[in-house]
Amino acid sequence: MRRFIPVIIAGWACLSPLQAQDKPVYLDETQSLEQRIDDALSRMTLDEKIAVIHAQSKFSSPGVKRLGFPDLWTDDGPHGVRPDVLWDEWEQAGQTNDSCVAFPALTCLAATWAPHLSRLYGESLGEEALYRGKHVMLGPGVNIFRTPLNGRNFEYMGEDPWLASRMVVPYVQGLQSKGVAACVKHYALNNDEEYRHQVNVIVSDRALHEIYLPAFKAAVQEGGAWSIMGAYNLYQGQHNCHNATMLNKILKHDWGFDGVVISDWGGCHDTDEAVVNGLDLEFGTWTDGLTMGATNAYDNYYLAAPYKKHIQQGRYTTRELDEKVRRVLRLFYRTTMRPYVPLPADSQRPRPVGFLCSESHYAAALQIAQEGIVLLKNSPIPSSPLREEPLPLLPLTVEKLKAFHEARISNEAPIPEPCSPTRSLLMAVGGANILVVGENAIKMMTVGGGSSSLKVQREILPLDGLARSLAGVWGSEVQLSYARGYVGDTVQSYNGVTVGRSLYDTRTASELLAEAVEKARQADVVIFVGGLNKSDGQDCEGHDRKQYGLPYGQDALITALAEANPRLVCVNISGNCVAMPWADKVPAIVQGWYLGSEAGSALASVLTGEVNPSGKLPFTWYADLSQCGAHATGSYPGTWRADHAIIDETYGEDIYVGYRWTDKERVKPLFAFGHGQSYTTFQIGHPVASSHAMTSVTPITITVPVTNTGERAGAEVVQLYVHAKRPAVDRPQKELKAFQKVYLQPGETRDVKLTIGIEALSFYDETIHDWQAEPGTYEALIGNASDNILQKMTFKWKE
Ligand code: BGC
Repeated sequence: MRRFIPVIIAGWACLSPLQAQDKPVYLDETQSLEQRIDDALSRMTLDEKIAVIHAQSKFSSPGVKRLGFPDLWTDDGPHGVRPDVLWDEWEQAGQTNDSCVAFPALTCLAATWAPHLSRLYGESLGEEALYRGKHVMLGPGVNIFRTPLNGRNFEYMGEDPWLASRMVVPYVQGLQSKGVAACVKHYALNNDEEYRHQVNVIVSDRALHEIYLPAFKAAVQEGGAWSIMGAYNLYQGQHNCHNATMLNKILKHDWGFDGVVISDWGGCHDTDEAVVNGLDLEFGTWTDGLTMGATNAYDNYYLAAPYKKHIQQGRYTTRELDEKVRRVLRLFYRTTMRPYVPLPADSQRPRPVGFLCSESHYAAALQIAQEGIVLLKNSPIPSSPLREEPLPLLPLTVEKLKAFHEARISNEAPIPEPCSPTRSLLMAVGGANILVVGENAIKMMTVGGGSSSLKVQREILPLDGLARSLAGVWGSEVQLSYARGYVGDTVQSYNGVTVGRSLYDTRTASELLAEAVEKARQADVVIFVGGLNKSDGQDCEGHDRKQYGLPYGQDALITALAEANPRLVCVNISGNCVAMPWADKVPAIVQGWYLGSEAGSALASVLTGEVNPSGKLPFTWYADLSQCGAHATGSYPGTWRADHAIIDETYGEDIYVGYRWTDKERVKPLFAFGHGQSYTTFQIGHPVASSHAMTSVTPITITVPVTNTGERAGAEVVQLYVHAKRPAVDRPQKELKAFQKVYLQPGETRDVKLTIGIEALSFYDETIHDWQAEPGTYEALIGNASDNILQKMTFKWKE
């Protein structure tokens, strides 16, 4: 089918002027998009209209063959282009041409706090999708991180509506600049996975509009998203895939969304609600499309034969149907029919070109991973008897490794005085030796986790990335060894994708621990690479995590390693925060996320110091679950109704999600939202405002000088939070309203300009069902983490 289009284009190109006048309006690119849609709609039969609003296979829906509209192909999303599955099943088709580049998971992207990298992410993914013939990418996800137990947080952009909004817009724009539609998901309130089809969320209008909707709204209004995915869960007792308030009122009426609402796979449950409550395109209603029905089971979809029958029997006119088809046609023109959409004058080619696994995509994946890695902790430790100054454990430079080696050797055999011959003594006993411990150092993380699982052309594992450093920055003076430490999940394949390296190990937990501890005693530095993985009940779709603590006895292992060797770096791989009861026993902690194809290279570059870390946490890292509002209020996971059909989950913490909650409750999390260290130091200077009085039409711009006061290049994220002084309504202590990442050479100073307008002061007023700002005094709090405010500036707002 897809081959049909170039034939048509070529055909029209050869027409004589007279024949060109006969070109139907729907194919005439000189006509407006809406005129062409009207014309196409007027030519379509009832069957053709019904056909385009529901799936014909697991991931495709039909076009209109008679009129030359190709089929529409969707695919997951959001971290790379999922391998093809069989026509009617989730099972992988086993193609040999669908390996992809895996980009870092969206929590990592959010942790870059770099909207330009989000644009790069979207563009690169769009090129991979184009090559694979996919027209709609099922992503990005912007559900808010409400509880760290949510199995799908790794696919989202953190806890803060402003950060998620700024990061989602360029992703959508970048992807769609390639002619591939974003399908922003899961709209909305899909904030946990457990019982996702049955959870009925009860949330105040204020929390809905201030916390849970802004990123979706930004994706629609600023990003111009061409499609959106309804969520599985319920709101106001109605499933979100056909929810009158969510879809008709908020999305389509209030926000003016002109794209297509696609049901999450199997999220549609009722023909009447689907017809009238704003669903446009139904997907995934049954997992096995052919055997569930007598003929073609797709005919039995809620928006297929049952809907057609209702129309034929007069229950509905074609008013709703035409509206749905109009939206689907608009999506066709934006994607599959793209050559017919007028192109900007400066456009060089008729449509963007796809590339699969190109070096530029690997480069993008690497850069995003490097900038997203967060250095959570880096304490100084005694380095060597030859130096008085303790040094931060990271980065692990050759000089530092040698110093640690000296220290260890000298502990074992006292250093002779004076110390000058020590270095030669050192070399005599061999170079520095690094021990890597942990399953996540050798486990592929692009495989597993649910619908975002990928089949990659390559994935550099952390151990392999570190081993490559031996050929580069470390050289032959450093040796690397490995101990498993624990056995987690040894399953070798997921959805037909097999992981490269066998994880099978028959040793007992105590044997593994003993081996790791013994080797740690002999090592100059130990790098532990553990955390969660993509197995069910961890960072995985379908269920939530069962516990906040690390699985597989890792806490005991880390504690034992810290006792055996004080030079311990802990690299945590996860899309969520986890309990770290050992945090004060470990000098260096790195948050490694799910980093995609270049995971090992990115981690190694940060650990060795080749790259200076600049990621900042996109969520609050709680010491324990009692610090999180959803758990402190006892509102997660909700209460089952008597018939056990629905579980009501009242968001008891209301607008106080993440740092808004810890600020209010005055609890100190383990690591605050926005926190992330660097190998250099920065000074955030005195802010100067364009005015100290804001009005509804004049925003203020605050200029802040930032200086790199250290000895190496690095990047800092300047964060601006707004605090309302003496508000009449309940307000969070502070809310993020502007930020900018700035890249600085040693000694360099740059001015960062942060602009805020009335929106930054506004709250959602439930009495008027709209946003409004209170006149009064506000403070701009400026710092480099939500718990490290370095500058304050007061200003007023008058109506
Ligand atoms: C997930 C979606 C995904 C879809 C198709 C659903 O189970 O919730 O995020 O896009 O499957 O794989």
